[in-house]
Amino acid sequence: PTFLVLGCLAAFGCGSIPFGLILVKLAGKGDVRAHGSGNIGATNVSRVGGKGLGMVTLLLDIAKGFLPVFLARQAAFPVDMQAALALCATAGHVFTPWLKFKGGKGVATALGAALAYRAVAVLPSLGLFILLVALTRYVSLGSIVGALALPVSMGWVRETVHKANLLGIEVQAGIREQDPWQAVFLWVLIALLVVAKHHENIARLLKGTESPLWGAKKGEA
Ligand code: G3P
Repeated sequence: PTFLVLGCLAAFGCGSIPFGLILVKLAGKGDVRAHGSGNIGATNVSRVGGKGLGMVTLLLDIAKGFLPVFLARQAAFPVDMQAALALCATAGHVFTPWLKFKGGKGVATALGAALAYRAVAVLPSLGLFILLVALTRYVSLGSIVGALALPVSMGWVRETVHKANLLGIEVQAGIREQDPWQAVFLWVLIALLVVAKHHENIARLLKGTESPLWGAKKGEA
């Protein structure tokens, strides 16, 4: 348990680094929270500081979710513990203590954690995200639907290759087994956290006032 608590704290600390805010400040463009949607994520950083800065923010925010889960995997932690670290890293970004617990929406950090956890299960979410953003130009809509699809694919079967030695002959068999429900439940929580943080976007989407990723005036929400 002490081990788990320390791991969770480390993952939370990792997730809590507000890269978007730091990068926009370093670029001399002020406080990203004062512009556009007010979010510290890659989408808003690209509105305020341009595509390049948005891309760097995206990669760094992905990395801070990826790293803790990747390390846990390397250390052969059980999957429910890996999912707990994914939740902690995402929560770190969303409730960063450095910004009085008012952080971002957790999309990129959850994506990074999910990639380290099981990259193949991220494909449906990524596909939906790309499709929706291409069709509607609303990153938030892609994020919400992509987030909701994630626990569904995480809860789906996984394939593991088992090796056995039968009478001196090495045999391999692909066995499909499911994650423990606790791990899937943690991915449900991650998805709900991401969706809940999009409440303002959801209101704007319903009103038709959400700002598209391209074709909008600079700095628009
Ligand atoms: O990454 C968050 C995205 O889904 C929406 O960002 O700035 O439009 O609220 P934003």
